[in-house]
Amino acid sequence: MSRSGINGTVSAMSRAILIVMIVMIALLPAGMAWGQLTEEDLAAIPAGPQPIKFSHKIHATDNEIPCEYCHIYARRSLVSGAPPVAICMGCHKFIATGLSEVQKVAKYWQEKKPIPWVKIHDVPDFVRFPHFRHVRAQNEVFPNGVPCQTCHGPIETMHVVEKFYPDFGEMGWCLDCHLTIPGSIERKMAIPVKAGSSVLKNAKGPKGYHRPNLTDCLTCHK
Ligand code: HEC
Ligand code: HEC
Ligand code: HEC
Ligand code: HEC
Ligand code: HEC
Repeated sequence: MSRSGINGTVSAMSRAILIVMIVMIALLPAGMAWGQLTEEDLAAIPAGPQPIKFSHKIHATDNEIPCEYCHIYARRSLVSGAPPVAICMGCHKFIATGLSEVQKVAKYWQEKKPIPWVKIHDVPDFVRFPHFRHVRAQNEVFPNGVPCQTCHGPIETMHVVEKFYPDFGEMGWCLDCHLTIPGSIERKMAIPVKAGSSVLKNAKGPKGYHRPNLTDCLTCHK
């Protein structure tokens, strides 16, 4: 009697563990097929400037992990920042744990150290670039935010991240885009025009209020 009682408890527990594991795997992004890569595959990937060979192609394309699964701050903060190591470990506690490059990730995690990623895309500190305002933009030109690729290029095809647009981050590059947004220049011209003019209407955002002047020096320089 008591024996089968214990067995019942044990199997109930392992059933619970099994269910937890199935749920965890079900929550992972679709398309994931780990256990494919060998050390030889990794050796064939070009070495970039980073402390760990991290491939966007393997994560974002081969395993279909969405950009914002890792880049959690891209739509929330002034700076997008590097993904927290905790996000990596959410998967790499049990995915590809045998790979040497993945073991490096686990080592930073155990030592509670951030991974010293080298920054590739950069604008000088005297420039104000609110990352989230772009990812969350809503206007006639970008109704659902500016896509990552519009500024960073096809990151999902790269083993090693590099700047795709040579003039990335230059003042002319910013302005080329800001000038395509209706109202950015008209608003300035509309000031002497009487209220209610169509020029002034075009200068309004989807919610009705005036859009900040995207070509004003003070929008990007304080
Ligand atoms: C309007 C252009 C634009 C869009 C859209 C954009 N970025 Fe950026 N991103 C930049 C610029 C400019 C920088 C450099 C910012 C700096 O140095 O302060 C940057 C920097 C970064 C960085 C480096 C860390 C940092 O914050 O400096 C990451 C990571 C990043 N972007 C990821 C993304 C992702 C993911 C998306 C889509 C969800 C995205 N970006 C969309 C322009 C853009
Ligand atoms: C959603 C799950 C998931 C997350 C989150 C994740 N990875 Fe991975 N990672 C994978 C899968 C799947 C593979 C491929 C394993 C295979 O096929 O053997 C992989 C492979 C790797 C590899 C070996 C291939 C390569 O890219 O060089 C490294 C290194 C790696 N991951 C580092 C990281 C780092 C660093 C982070 C955090 C920024 C991270 N991973 C976040 C799922 C994930
Ligand atoms: C599995 C996690 C993960 C996913 C998914 C992911 N990234 Fe990244 N991303 C990283 C890590 C780690 C770095 C820093 C190392 C590097 O540059 O490769 C990085 C770096 C970047 C950078 C360069 C940052 C800099 O220093 O300038 C950009 C831009 C970027 N990612 C955009 C994207 C975009 C766009 C997508 C979707 C197509 C994406 N990432 C998907 C983890 C991820
Ligand atoms: C591909 C298009 C694109 C590029 C490139 C771009 N921006 Fe923007 N920017 C936008 C959009 C769209 C908005 C949001 C406008 C709105 O609210 O409708 C915006 C908003 C802003 C704002 C917020 C204005 C405010 O106060 O509300 C600042 C600041 C800004 N951008 C600076 C920059 C800088 C600096 C660069 C270059 C490093 C840059 N942008 C590159 C499209 C772009
Ligand atoms: C949409 C954003 C944006 C607007 C609007 C803008 N700038 Fe800039 N500006 C930048 C960026 C980004 C840089 C850094 C370029 C680089 O490092 O190549 C810059 C650099 C500069 C520099 C330094 C040049 C150097 O290389 O030392 C000056 C001066 C400057 N801007 C003046 C202005 C003036 C004056 C205006 C208004 C007529 C203006 N900016 C409007 C984004 C902007």
